Amino acid sequence: MTTQDAKNQPAKMWGGRFAETTAASVEAFTASIQYDCRLYRHDIAGSRAHAKMLAKQGLLTDDERDQILKGLDEIEAEIAGGTFVFRPELEDIHMNIEKTLVEKIGPAGAKLHTARSRNDQVALDIRLYLREESERLIELLTGLQKAFVKQARQNLGAIMPGYTHLQRAQPVLVSHHLLAYYEMFGRDRERLVDGLKRINILPLGAAALAGTGLPIDREFVARELNFPAITANSMDTVGDRDFAVEFLAAATLIQLHLSRLSEELVLWSSEEFRFVRLADAYCTGSSIMPQKKNPDIPELIRGKSGRVVGNLMALITILKGLPLTYNRDLQEDKEPIFDTVDTVSRSVAIAAELMANLSFNTERLLDCTRGGYMTATDLADYLVRKNIPFREAHAIVGRTVAYCIEQNKELPELAIEELRQFSDRIDEDVFPLLTVAGSVNSRRSAGGTGLERVGEALAEAERRLGCTP
Ligand code: ARG
Repeated sequence: MTTQDAKNQPAKMWGGRFAETTAASVEAFTASIQYDCRLYRHDIAGSRAHAKMLAKQGLLTDDERDQILKGLDEIEAEIAGGTFVFRPELEDIHMNIEKTLVEKIGPAGAKLHTARSRNDQVALDIRLYLREESERLIELLTGLQKAFVKQARQNLGAIMPGYTHLQRAQPVLVSHHLLAYYEMFGRDRERLVDGLKRINILPLGAAALAGTGLPIDREFVARELNFPAITANSMDTVGDRDFAVEFLAAATLIQLHLSRLSEELVLWSSEEFRFVRLADAYCTGSSIMPQKKNPDIPELIRGKSGRVVGNLMALITILKGLPLTYNRDLQEDKEPIFDTVDTVSRSVAIAAELMANLSFNTERLLDCTRGGYMTATDLADYLVRKNIPFREAHAIVGRTVAYCIEQNKELPELAIEELRQFSDRIDEDVFPLLTVAGSVNSRRSAGGTGLERVGEALAEAERRLGCTP
C-alpha cells in the first residue's frame, strides 16, 4: 500500500460518513475480538471461497484473487503462530483480518468485501464453527459410549439393586444400568447429527439483509465450503441463530446426562454405598483431612451443568424480541456458544476416562440386593400366572412382606407353609423366582434386565460402535 492510500484510508473501515473518531469507551464496549478471534480459521475459509467466487464471476481478476488467497494464507499462519497482533479498535475478527489484508496487499484486499456484509459473514463463521464442533462432540460421545460398553462387557452377570425414589426397587444387572447411559448418550449423538442438517446450510450471499445486485454464485460458494444447501431467505439468514439454540439445547442434555451420572458416581463411591472405586488418578485429597479421597471430577461435571444451562438461557433470552433482521445483540451469541462447547467437550472427555478407570465392587452390589424384599414383584407376577388378578396378587404379597418384616425374614427364607398362609396357589416352584438371580433372569421382556436381553443389547451396542467383545 502506498503512503497516499494509507492517508486516505479512514480509521474505521466503515468510517466514511463519520466526522468524529469513536470514543475509546465505545471501542472497548463494542469489541468482540477478545473472544471471536477463535473464529479466525472459519473466517478465512469463508473469505477464500468468497474470493474464488468473485473471480469466477468477473468481480475480481485472477491476479487479485491470487493476491487475496496468498495474503489470507499469511494471515492464517501468523494467527496460528501467535505473531498476529489483534487490534481491539477493529472490533471483531472479520475487520481484523480484512484490514490486515488491505495493509498487506492494498487495493485487491479492499475488494474482498464485495457483495458481502459482516452480517452474512458472521453467520457463516458460526455455522462453520458449530459444524466442526458438532462433529468433534459426536466423536467424543462415541468414546464415552465405548467406555460404558466395555464396562458392561466386563461386569456382565453382576447384579445390583435397581432404584426408584433412591429406594431399592428390583434387582438388575450392572450391565443393564451401564447400557442405560449408552442409550442416553446415543440420543445425544443423534440430536447433534440431526442439528447438523440445519447448521450445514450456506448463509453467505444474504449480504446485509436483502441479498445483492452483484452477480454472485452462492451455489459455487456452497460447494467450496461443503454445504449441501444454501439458505432461502436473506432476511431470515442474517437474523437466524435457531441452529445455535438447537446446538446449545443438545449440549445441555449431554451435560445433564453427565450430571446424573456424576450424582451416581458420587453416591456410589461413598462409604455408605461402596458400589464403585474411582481410580486414584481421578480423585483428589483434602488439604486438612488426610484420610479423604474426594470425587471432585463428578462433582465438577455436575456443577458445570449450571453454566451450560445458563448459556442456553442466555442465548434464548438474547433472541427473544429481536426484530428482523441483524441486530448487534447477536454478537452476544458467541461467549455462551464457546463456553458451552468448551465445558461440554471437556466434561465428555474426562467422563470417558473416569468410566474407563472405574471398578465395580460386585460382591457389595450383590449383598445390597439382599434385604429390602426386592423380589416381591416377582411373587406377585407368579400369582398372576396362577390366574390371580394383579391387584389381588399385590395385596397378597403386601401382607406376605409385612409378615417377613415381623418375622425378620427374607422372602426366599419363608417355608412353603408360611407362604401358603397368604395364598394356596403358591407351590414349591416359586422359590427360584424369589432369589435375585431368578428375578433378574425372568425379566425377558424386550428391553428388560434378563441376562439374555442384556447380552443381546450389549452385542448390538458393540456392533454399532465397532468394539470387539
Ligand atoms: N461482531 C459482529 C457479530 O458478532 C459481526 C457483525 C457486525 N455487523 C454489524 N453490522 N455491525 O455479530
